Amino acid sequence: MDNFTYYNPTKLIFGKGQVEQLAIEVPSYGNRVLLVYGGGSIKRNGLYDQVVNILKDKGIETFELSGVEPNPRLSTVQRGVDICKNENIDFLLAVGGGSVIDCTKAIAVGAKYEGNPWDIVTKKHIPTEALPFGTVLTIAATGSEMNSGSVITNWETQEKYGWGSPLVFPRFSILDPVNTFTVPKNQTIYGIVDMMSHVFEQYFHHTKNTPLQDKFCESTLRTVIEAAPKLVEDLENYELRETILYAGTIALNGQLQMGYRGDWATHNIEHAVSAVHDIPHGGGLAILFPNWMKHTMSENVDRFVQMAVNVFDVNPNGKDKETIATEGIEKLREFWSSIGAPSRLKDYDIGEESIDVMADKAMANGEFGNFKKLTRDDVVAIYRASL
Ligand code: NZQ
Ligand code: ZN
Repeated sequence: MDNFTYYNPTKLIFGKGQVEQLAIEVPSYGNRVLLVYGGGSIKRNGLYDQVVNILKDKGIETFELSGVEPNPRLSTVQRGVDICKNENIDFLLAVGGGSVIDCTKAIAVGAKYEGNPWDIVTKKHIPTEALPFGTVLTIAATGSEMNSGSVITNWETQEKYGWGSPLVFPRFSILDPVNTFTVPKNQTIYGIVDMMSHVFEQYFHHTKNTPLQDKFCESTLRTVIEAAPKLVEDLENYELRETILYAGTIALNGQLQMGYRGDWATHNIEHAVSAVHDIPHGGGLAILFPNWMKHTMSENVDRFVQMAVNVFDVNPNGKDKETIATEGIEKLREFWSSIGAPSRLKDYDIGEESIDVMADKAMANGEFGNFKKLTRDDVVAIYRASL
């Protein structure tokens, strides 16, 4: 293992009816609250009314930022920052998915900075202060509810970057599987692909002696693989929603990645696709990840053999390592296709003509990836294999 420090201060409040905990949590941080939410799903399923009533009962003055887009935009972050500054907001409450939470994280630091919040996303300014915030998660996917990362899109320049700061761990996150019942089938699938991809980003590394970490990763993947096909046919099944919701948090709250560095190249490649074409993050990952795997397999074929056997039950008898590894990658592709995930860029009408511009975006900060450092040629090859 590599040396490591693990730090995660987010209070995780999980289970049926836990939204009531807002009445205890929010007043301890302030009484002028900015409620941040997306395009209206929380109004349609009743969660908005529940949250607003709890805040009202506690005498909290509530302001609102609605319409946070999937792939949240800098312009929306700026709207939130302006409200915080004009209204002396002292606490932010994100009610929604990863996009709403990521936007809230950028508002939290932007509200304490005089310049453009894009400086923070592009790491020109390192934030030193943030407003506190909490979340009520409504979709299992990103892990943003219990990590300190955020991904923001600048639609004017078609750039999408991840950034992070220990200042933007949520103070608390409330996860009630019931609040995810209304997530439509396609978004449920994207979330499943995203959380599995987070595990893959971490699983492929060259550090020796990580047996427990490997088993945590493999069990998380096997658990999701078992639950996902049932869930996509039974969207209001409490136990399946519960399993997937918990898996999404575990996949990216830092617990799997102790003692080694993950790769994270495929996320960078996908962010370049969604920066240009505004496609769902999980949809992009489903297309790209198996192709990244095939492209990088020779870096450490033993890791891929391990995945094939321990996660996808490939029978290794009488086969060479490349064959076993390739079968594992194909089983992953088959699994994602079987639950309804996309497999080609052309599923989103993205063709050859986009490759150069996407590759330029992906390479904006130079070569990347810890398992294999990708050059521009590698990135182009992965996009081309994904057409
Ligand atoms: O906007 P509303 O109306 O709420 O609808 C949303 C949105 O259309 C809908 N939805 C969410 N909860 C729902 C629901 N619909 C019905 N019922 C519910 N309970 O689902 C759609 C997608 O929501 P979004 O928040 O965009 O999804 P997700 O959680 O997958 O977040 C994606 C964003 O997170 C970034 C991605 O790049 C993307 O921008 N990521 C953030 C990470 C992080 N902070 O750690 C890591 C990830 O790898 C990822 O890059
Ligand atoms: Zn992701």
